[in-house]
Amino acid sequence: MLRMPRRRLFTLGGAALIGTLPAPRIGDPFTLGVASGDPLPEGVVLWTRLAPRPLEPSGGLPPVTIPVDWQVATDDGFTRVIRRGTTTASPGYGHAVHVDVQGLQPGRDYFYRFRSQGHLSPIGRTRTAPAKAASPDSLRFAIASCQAYTDGYYDAWRHLASEELDVVFFLGDYIYEGAINSVGGNRMDSALRLPDTYELETDTLDLYRMRYALYRTDPDLQAAHAAFPWVLTWDDHEVQDNYADGVSRFTTVPEQDFLVRRANAYRAYWENQPLRPPRQPAGPDMSLYRRFRFGDLAHAYVLDTRQYRTDQACGDNLRAGCEDRNDPDRTLLGAEQRDWLLGKIGRSEARWNILAQQIMMAECRYGGPANRLDMDKWDGYTADRRRILETATRTPGTVVISGDIHYNYAADLRVKFDRPETPAVAVELVGTSISSGGDGSDSTPQLDMQRRYNPHLRLANGQRGYVRCELGRDSLRADYRVMSQVTRRGGEISTRASFVSERVRPGLVTA
Ligand SMILES: [Fe+2]
Repeated sequence: MLRMPRRRLFTLGGAALIGTLPAPRIGDPFTLGVASGDPLPEGVVLWTRLAPRPLEPSGGLPPVTIPVDWQVATDDGFTRVIRRGTTTASPGYGHAVHVDVQGLQPGRDYFYRFRSQGHLSPIGRTRTAPAKAASPDSLRFAIASCQAYTDGYYDAWRHLASEELDVVFFLGDYIYEGAINSVGGNRMDSALRLPDTYELETDTLDLYRMRYALYRTDPDLQAAHAAFPWVLTWDDHEVQDNYADGVSRFTTVPEQDFLVRRANAYRAYWENQPLRPPRQPAGPDMSLYRRFRFGDLAHAYVLDTRQYRTDQACGDNLRAGCEDRNDPDRTLLGAEQRDWLLGKIGRSEARWNILAQQIMMAECRYGGPANRLDMDKWDGYTADRRRILETATRTPGTVVISGDIHYNYAADLRVKFDRPETPAVAVELVGTSISSGGDGSDSTPQLDMQRRYNPHLRLANGQRGYVRCELGRDSLRADYRVMSQVTRRGGEISTRASFVSERVRPGLVTA
C-alpha cells in the first residue's frame, strides 16, 4: 500500500510557495469521487475534481493551483504500480483533474487513485479497449442517460456497478438546469439541505459547476463511475431544455446571449467529465463527436445532435402535418459531423457499428386522430435520418443507442417506416432514464398508443433503469433492466425484456 504522503505545498501561479508556509487544512478534497473514460487500446482518461466543500462555490477551495498525484496499478492493493505522475488542479478549471494515461496494455483492467493534500481518493477500476487488430468475441456495455437528481435516487447506478461491463455509454442529461428546492426535490427521505443558490436555474459557470458537484456527491453515481470507463455525450439539459445550436428555447433571448450561457455550460461539462484535452471547449464551441474502436468487433461513433442542429421544425414539440421536417436542408448533425459519420460507417470493417447518440431515431407516432410526431427527435430531421439508414443498408451490424425520452423502446429501423413489410436495416435500443420522471410504470395509455401506431416498436416501457448489452461476433443481445422504484431508496432491479438481433439480418426478436 501507498504510504500516506508528506503534506504538499500549494503553488501559486505555477510557482511553488517555498519556506515554512504550512499547507492550509482543507479537508478531504475527494468528495466528488473518481472517474475514467474514453478508453483506447493503450490509454484511458482519469478524472477527479477537488472540492472539500462540494456545494459551495469553488468547492470550498482558495484560488490557488494544487498538485495532485496519480497512480495506475494492475491490482487494487496498488502493489504493482505501472504508471504514476503529478498533475495540477487549477482554479481556472474548477480544480478539475484530467490525466491522459498512455502506455497501457490493450483489453485489460487497471486500478487508479489520486492523492492530494494528505488525502487519498477512492480507488477506481478501468479497462482499456482491445488492440486495434484484435478480434474479440464480445463487448459488454450498458446504455444509460437522464439522471435528474431531483426526481429520484440513483439505486440503478448501484446495480449497474455490479454488472460485468467493458464500458458504459452515457447518452446525455447528466445534469438538469432547472431550480432545485432546498431539500433536493423528490428525494423524499433525504436529510439534505441545499444552499439557496440551488434555487437558481444554471446559467453562470459557477452555477453549472455547483450543479455537477451536487450530482457527483451521490455515492451510487460515484460507484458506477469507479467501476467502469464511461464514454459520454451530452443532450440538451447540460445547457438548456431543447436548445438548438445557438437558439435558446426562449425565442426572446438573443443568440449572442445564449452563446455565453452555452460557453459556461460546455466549460463546466469539460471540467466535470473524463474527456481528453483536445475536447476542451473554446468559448461556446466544443468538439464532442468522436470514434472508439473495440478491435474488429465494434466501432462506436459518439454523436452530438445538439450543437449543430437546425432549429426545430414547426415550432418544436409534438406536431401533426409538419412538412418542414422533411426539408432536405434541415440537419441534426451538421454537414461536417454527418459527412464524417457517413464516411466512417461506409468504410467500416468492424462487425458492428454503434451510433451512440441522444435522441430516438425510429419514427414514433403518438397515435390518435392527430397522430403527432416529436419535432425535437429524428422525426423532425428526416433527411439526415434517411442518409444514415440508407448507408446502414450497405453496412451490416448497425446499432443505434439512444436516451433522452425517459422510456425504454426497442425498434427495428427501416428506411421507410410506413412499409413494415420491408426488411429492417438496423436496430435501435432506446434506454430509459436513471431517475428522470420518477418511478414511472410499465405501461401508460400513451405507450399503448405508440405500440399500436408504430409496428416497428418491439418494446415500449416507462420504468427507470438502463440497458445491458452484449455484442458477439454474429448477434446482439439486449436486456432491459428496470427499477421497482426510485423515489424511495432501495429499489430492486429486474430484467423487463430481452432481445437478440443478428448482424446480417437485423430485427429484434424476444430472447
Ligand atoms: Fe432527460
